[in-house]
Formats: sequence, C-alpha cells, structure tokens
Amino acid sequence: MRSKHKNNLPFEARKVSAKEARKRATEGNPVGDIEAPGQNPHVHHLFTTPIWHQKRVKNFEKIQEEIEEVIPEIDFNMIETWGTTHYLSTKDFQQDLFREYMLDSLLREIQRNVTDYLIELRFEPRPFQMCSWLTKFEKGCYGHIHNHGTSDLSGVYYYKTNGKDGDLFFQSPAPGHGMSKVCAASCGGSRRYIPQEGVLLLFPGFLDHGIHTNDTDNTRISLSFNIRFQ
Ligand SMILES: [Fe+2]
Repeated sequence: MRSKHKNNLPFEARKVSAKEARKRATEGNPVGDIEAPGQNPHVHHLFTTPIWHQKRVKNFEKIQEEIEEVIPEIDFNMIETWGTTHYLSTKDFQQDLFREYMLDSLLREIQRNVTDYLIELRFEPRPFQMCSWLTKFEKGCYGHIHNHGTSDLSGVYYYKTNGKDGDLFFQSPAPGHGMSKVCAASCGGSRRYIPQEGVLLLFPGFLDHGIHTNDTDNTRISLSFNIRFQ
C-alpha cells in the first residue's frame, strides 16, 4: 500500500501572478461585449464550448509509472443501476485518488493545464476542490451519455488505450442548432475524440458525453476528475 498523500486538499491551482492573469484577461475581446471585428464582415461564434486538449502531458513516463503502481490496489466494480456499462473505482464519486495515493506527477500536470485553461478563458485561478476516479472498459463496455452535473470543470487522462477501444464523444450543448440546416453541420450533433495514451482533456461538467463500445480485446483505463472552484 502506498503512503497517503501528504498534501491537504483543497489545494491551490498553480500560482500565476495576479498581474499576468489581469493582463491576459484584458487582452483581445473581453467576455460579454461584442467589439467591432478587425475583419469586416465577420462571423461571431457566440456561446462556443471550450475543450482543452493536451496532446501528451509532460512527465508522461513518470505519470504512467505512478498510475501503474496504483492499479493493482483498485477494486473495480460496475454500478448495478447503470446496467452492464463499465467498471469504476468508486460508487459514489466522492473518491479522490490524489488524496489516497501519491499521484503527484499527474496532479501537478493537471494543475498546470487547468491554470492555463483558466487563463485562456479569462477566469482568474483560485482554490478548488477535486474528486477523481479510475474507469475501466473491457471488451463490450461502453459509457452511456451523461454529464458531470454542476462540476465547474471535468477532465480525463488516458492511461491505457489502443486508440480503438472506445472514442469519447461530446454532444452539442445547444441542440437548437440541429433545427437549422445551416448550423447543424458546424454547431450541432456530436464530436469524437480518439483516445490516446498521455492525452489530457478538460471540459465543462455540464457537457453531455459518452464513450463508444470497446470492440477490441484491449482493456482501456482512464482517470477522470471533477473540479469545483471556491
Ligand atoms: Fe463522464
């Protein structure tokens, strides 16, 4: 058994100077008002959904090693009321793997990415609370369409995948786009993300998503988390 995580959560996101955060927040178009575009005419893509995509995390090898040590200690189970979907390390989503185990390398990488994501979205970094769990997809497993409720941010890190064992798909949060032939193609429907080891995705918790069935013999394992800011 690995030793307990020494840090007390909630912890603070990686510190970015207030000066830097303010500078970023005032660059470009401010959130809210629509400014005259530099290019005229111009299409304003209002109400878009920000998805953060880190192709391969820093310290990939170290992060993989830390998770590999934890996997044998995890008791994976299905949630019976969901039917035969996929295996989880938690039943109530109150678990925090970063508190239970020393997954420090991945925690630092998530903090770094969250901070950069927040700066991009002009939201000043602040302390947050986190829960996290592991998900396992054997052959035939899938993820029904769901969302993470009022979680401010959610995320997933791909630990083990062959890239063909279940795409993640996000559904448009604005289904009204599907009522317009003009908007349906670009703004409606769903979008797939092919899983890849070392990839970290961040997205708002309200966004509906699911995982396609794993039709391969590979065991697909990912680590998911929810974040709530103070
Ligand atoms: Fe999810």
